[in-house]
Amino acid sequence: MRMYDIIAKKRDGGELSQEEIQFFIDGYTSGEIPDYQASAFAMALYFQGMNKEERAAITMAMAQSGDMIDLSEIEGTKVDKHSTGGVGDTTTLILAPLVASVGVPVAKMSGRGLGHTGGTIDKLESVPGFHVELTKEEFIQNVNERKVSVIGQSGNLTPADKKLYALRDVTATVNSIPLIASSIMSKKIAAGADAIVLDVKTGAGAFMKEESESIDLAKAMVEIGNSVGRKTMAVISDMSQPLGNAIGNALEVKEAIETLKGTGPEDLTKLSLTLGSQMVVLAGHAENLTDAWSLLEKSIENGDALKKFKEFLASQGGDASVVDEPTLLPQAKYQFEVLADTSGYIHEMVADEIGHAASMLGAGRLTKDSEIDLSVGVVLQKKVGDTIEKGEPLLTVHSNQEDIKEVEKKLKENIKISPDPLIPPDLIRQIIT
Ligand code: URA
Ligand code: CA
Repeated sequence: MRMYDIIAKKRDGGELSQEEIQFFIDGYTSGEIPDYQASAFAMALYFQGMNKEERAAITMAMAQSGDMIDLSEIEGTKVDKHSTGGVGDTTTLILAPLVASVGVPVAKMSGRGLGHTGGTIDKLESVPGFHVELTKEEFIQNVNERKVSVIGQSGNLTPADKKLYALRDVTATVNSIPLIASSIMSKKIAAGADAIVLDVKTGAGAFMKEESESIDLAKAMVEIGNSVGRKTMAVISDMSQPLGNAIGNALEVKEAIETLKGTGPEDLTKLSLTLGSQMVVLAGHAENLTDAWSLLEKSIENGDALKKFKEFLASQGGDASVVDEPTLLPQAKYQFEVLADTSGYIHEMVADEIGHAASMLGAGRLTKDSEIDLSVGVVLQKKVGDTIEKGEPLLTVHSNQEDIKEVEKKLKENIKISPDPLIPPDLIRQIIT
C-alpha cells in the first residue's frame, strides 16, 4: 500500500477501505508517513468528506493508536459525558455525584482548562486537598465502592489524534465534521466508555457557533458511537451566554454544590437533569428519560446527591466540609459589583468574551503551562431576557487585583441592554438519539 495512492483516491472522491485508513493512522503515528502527506490527505478529507464506514474506521484506528483504558473490572455500563466546551459549564461536577447517587458508575478522565473554557480538574482542585493522581487500581476500586471517581489524563491516549489534531490546526483542516467527530469519539472510546452522552454546545461561546453545524456534528458523533457499539446520545445546548451564573473555578464549585442542594441556577439545573437522564437511561437504570429525570430529581430532594458529592471529595483527599461551608473554598480578596449604565432588557451576554474577562482575572490558562487563580471569576446577577434598572448590579467580579478597569470594560462591551423585551434563547435545542 502506498500513501500516495490513498491520497489520490480520496482526492478524487473515492471511498477508502478500513485497511487503507488503518495504514494511514499507523504510518502517521509511527512517523513513517510524513506531515506533508498527512496534510494533503487531511485536505482531501476536508473537501471530499467521509462516509459512515470511513468515519467508524478512522475513529477506531485513532482510539487504538495508543492505550485503551480497560474498565471491565467495573461492574455495570460505564457512561461517559463529553461537552464540546463552554463558559461556566459546571455540569460534570454536578453530574458525577448525581448519577452515581442513583447507582450509575462514573469513571471519569478529565482535563484541565485552556483558554476561555474551564476544566473539571482545575475546578475540583479548588477543594482543599483534592487530588486526581490515583493509580488505576485506586480509581477502579473507588468506582466499584462508591460509583464515582475522577482522574487526570495520563498515559499515552490517542497519539494519532494528538498528532493529527495539531497538524489540522496549522493546515486549515480543523473545521470538518467527520474529522472533529472522529477526533472527539476516539478519545472517549480510548478512555473506556461503554456509552456516551454528548453535550454539543452552540452559539458564541461554542466551538460550533451555528446551530445547524452543531446539529450536524452531534448527528455525526451519535452515528459513529452507535456504529462502533457504543450507545450514544446527544443534546444540543445553548452557549450564547455562559451557563449558570458563576464563571471561575472555586465559584463554580460553589454553584455545583448549590445545584446539588436544589437551589442552583435554573439553566444549569435543567441541563444537568437533561444530560443526567440520558446517562441513567444508557446505563440501563431507567426505562425512559422521564423515569430517569424523576429518579435524579428525587436524589437532589432527599439529599443523596449532595451526600455522594461529599463522599466523592473525601475519597480523593478533599475537604468535604466545603459542602456545608463554601467559604472554605479559595476566596478572592476583592468583590466588585458592575452596575448597569442603562435600564432595559438584557439582550446579550457574549459567552466567549465573558469567559475571556474571567481569564484576564486569572481564572483561565493562556498557555498550557500557565498558573491559574482558583479563587477569581465572575458571578452574573442577570441573564439574557431579564430586566434591569440603571444602577442595578449586572454581575460581581471576584478579583485579587484592585484595578479591574480593563476587565470591567470587556464585560460591559459584551453585555447588551436594550429597551425592547425579548424571549431568552432556548437552553435545550434538540435531543439526538
Ligand atoms: N475538539 C477535538 O477534540 N477535536 C477536534 O477535532 C475539534 C475539537
Ligand atoms: Ca456556571
